[in-house]
Amino acid sequence: MLDRYLQHRHSGVHSPNHVMEEPAFLDELGPVAGLRVLDLGCGDAAIGRTLLAAGCRSYLGIDGSTEMTRAANATLAGTSGRVDRMDIEQFSAPPHTFDLIISRLALHYVDDLDSVLSACRRSLSPSGRLLITVVHPVITSHEARQSTNEARTNWVVDDYFDTGARQRNWMGNTVTWYHRTVEDYVAALTRAQFAITALRECAPRHDRFDGDMAEYARRRRVPLFLLLAGSRA
Ligand SMILES: C[S@@+](CC[C@H](N)C(=O)[O-])C[C@H]1O[C@@H](n2cnc3c(N)ncnc32)[C@H](O)[C@@H]1O
Repeated sequence: MLDRYLQHRHSGVHSPNHVMEEPAFLDELGPVAGLRVLDLGCGDAAIGRTLLAAGCRSYLGIDGSTEMTRAANATLAGTSGRVDRMDIEQFSAPPHTFDLIISRLALHYVDDLDSVLSACRRSLSPSGRLLITVVHPVITSHEARQSTNEARTNWVVDDYFDTGARQRNWMGNTVTWYHRTVEDYVAALTRAQFAITALRECAPRHDRFDGDMAEYARRRRVPLFLLLAGSRA
């Protein structure tokens, strides 16, 4: 599964992460020089290398998967970046430990989002920021199975207001995603005393399609990712 995921994650023009999630994430990231960064559900920590090269003071990735933490350790070899294998829901750190907490496409795996966001807020410096992306609620709401491997050309949104756990087939494995509405994410950040500074639906970025305008048009049909940013209120 790891190989399949990393191939998908870094597959350039064919990866929705590359054409949709990453451009919005980088837009909202802002300057990172001098910041102490925590990455929840860091995967292979590719962003950690990028942030360290951009001058962040420290990078700590946490991930629950042995395979992913092994990949992250390999990515960060020769840098000051660190990785811990830990469940996001177990995370806590003393006050003012981090200046920026990021989490990309991991928090829809988390059941108790309120506790995680409260732990984030507690561990941030007074001017600290949070920047997260999740699979968009219109996608987590319902899984419309597709029998072919062809690019999807229709989507189903259903049971949108029935929030909670969903068993999903992802990269050939069954995983549990927690479906929340857009409103739920906003309310959770607000409850954790974050002032929301951005909410984006990660529209595809025209210049990342290498001229493949049919794929660009297909990716303009449905939002796949939701981004939220907040500062410690
Ligand atoms: C879709 S991947 C995203 C990885 C990385 N952030 C990226 O954007 O490439 C989700 C990651 O979250 C991790 N993850 C999911 N649930 C977790 C949990 N409860 N605790 C720790 N890690 C978790 C998975 O192991 C996986 O590496």
